[in-house]
Amino acid sequence: MDQTDGASSLQQRWFADRYAANARFVSDLAEPLIKNLAPCSGELILDLGCGDGALTKLVAEAGAMVVGVDASLDQIKACQNLGIPAAVMDGHNLAFKEVFDAILTNAALHWMTSPNDVIDAMWNALKPGGRVIGEMGGAGNIARITRALTEALTRRNLQDRIVFPWFFPNEADYCERLESRGFVVNYMALMPRPTPLPGEITDWLDTFGEQFLFLLPERERAAFKEEVAEELEADLFDPNGRWVADYVRLRFTATRPEEA
Ligand code: BEZ
Repeated sequence: MDQTDGASSLQQRWFADRYAANARFVSDLAEPLIKNLAPCSGELILDLGCGDGALTKLVAEAGAMVVGVDASLDQIKACQNLGIPAAVMDGHNLAFKEVFDAILTNAALHWMTSPNDVIDAMWNALKPGGRVIGEMGGAGNIARITRALTEALTRRNLQDRIVFPWFFPNEADYCERLESRGFVVNYMALMPRPTPLPGEITDWLDTFGEQFLFLLPERERAAFKEEVAEELEADLFDPNGRWVADYVRLRFTATRPEEA
């Protein structure tokens, strides 16, 4: 992911233990991507935004050599603890030139808000003929959650301080960006995927929504999160007693042609 662990008080921070407790579903739900990636022994694969390495490890177990990069040092340490070579790196500016047979990226690209720079970096990192298999938040992702956050901040007259931290494109937008760089897009689909959460929506807000929470003094954040939860309850708390986030995924595969 393209945010650092965050000395800055407004930046989303990543803690491997918090992520494991509240967001394991992110890598669990992405396991079908491994099938699409079809890693072969002898291939060198980059996991862009590898997080704590849970998905990266599956690529290694399939027999490929895999390297993880992520902007969070804490996540990179967790990935390295699984025995996977991994480095802190910004996805907008990958330090690789025609090295990889394939790039896998899950739930990371939406944190990188200059998408053309990321697409350029992926192109450069791939060998000619290399492929990208990706999944990210797409148009409409967490729209209900975002609206509740925005409304609660607006009630505090803080709406002008919101900096939307995510890039959620639709199919046409992302396809055009990839094709403009020269990629051949093999597959692109936007799919709603309501996602049951392992705990409270307030835990989700802590894990993923810090850029909204940090607009408030710490002493006001608990009440703010409860207010947002109350607002969301009718739409996102299902009859089985679980919170279900209104996720929409954009899944794609693209190839850097042999001859550009
Ligand atoms: C996502 O995986 O779609 C996502 C996660 C956290 C915040 C925003 C989006």
